[in-house]
Amino acid sequence: MPAVLISRLFPEPVMVEMARRFTLLGRPQDCPATRETLLEQVPQADALAVTLADRVDAGLLAKASRLKVVAVYAVGYNNVDMAAAAARGIVVTNTPDVLTEATADLTWGLILAVTRRIPEGDRLVREGRWAGWAPTQLLGSDVHGKTLGVVGMGRIGRAVARRAAGFAMSVIYHSRHPLSSEEEEALNVSRVPLPQLLQTADIVSIHTPLTEGTRHFIGKAELARMRRTAYLINTARGPVVDEAALAEAMAQGRLAGAGLDVYEDEPRVHPRLLGLSNVVLLPHIGSATYETRVKMGMMVVENITAALAGKEPPNRVSA
Ligand code: GLV
Ligand code: GLV
Repeated sequence: MPAVLISRLFPEPVMVEMARRFTLLGRPQDCPATRETLLEQVPQADALAVTLADRVDAGLLAKASRLKVVAVYAVGYNNVDMAAAAARGIVVTNTPDVLTEATADLTWGLILAVTRRIPEGDRLVREGRWAGWAPTQLLGSDVHGKTLGVVGMGRIGRAVARRAAGFAMSVIYHSRHPLSSEEEEALNVSRVPLPQLLQTADIVSIHTPLTEGTRHFIGKAELARMRRTAYLINTARGPVVDEAALAEAMAQGRLAGAGLDVYEDEPRVHPRLLGLSNVVLLPHIGSATYETRVKMGMMVVENITAALAGKEPPNRVSA
């Protein structure tokens, strides 16, 4: 059986299927693999299954003399040095589609949490500080009828936009890849230049992949264009937003709030954000439902199986 290195434990049904099809190298733990462990075991591996927290760089790939495939357990694969993998003829795969709806659901969770101040309310009740109903308590901002600005109209951006219909929102979007006019009509969305989106939207939600072109895509100048009553939501990748600039804008009251699931240097969060009650902070759980995480794992298994059989894997990605 081919030898597969898994950087950490996946959900149980996935581990069972992995063990049925492959010889697993080492003993995957429910914590990140250390760099030393990966470097030590990768020379024996035919396939490598990694999470978004594992850096698959030229140094690691240089030791991977038998490696045919890197299967990323995520849709985003910015943690892999794609040029180094291509130079060695190593195939890279991801897990798109199966996590689209779960991530869109979580995005809406963040939108509602920050605009309606749900975590603040929970803390008030839990800490015994609630003195009863009050006309002026925890007033948030309406979501229904407002304008949603979607930055990045891929699968997840579209799934987020689709849900906005239930809230009777207007949806504008910015994307490098414009939708066809039929798709725009079906989703009831219109494409606008980024500055216009930032100046118009009541809620700006980020759904671009992280590439060299999108690093700090939302920086100081972009944040300055947003309305003082607007909210920023990021469930994509932390570095797409300049976190220090966001912390500064939030501390100065230049935005109404922010909902974040991702950070520039995970698991670290900018310390100024931690002290702000109008920022909702989640621990990168966009795809974290049992069903979705199992499906993602099964895709990893199928991608590895195909690649090791010399077939085109279902979810191959390129730079
Ligand atoms: C999660 O962030 C993913 O890219 O799947
Ligand atoms: C992810 O699946 C995306 O394309 O947004």
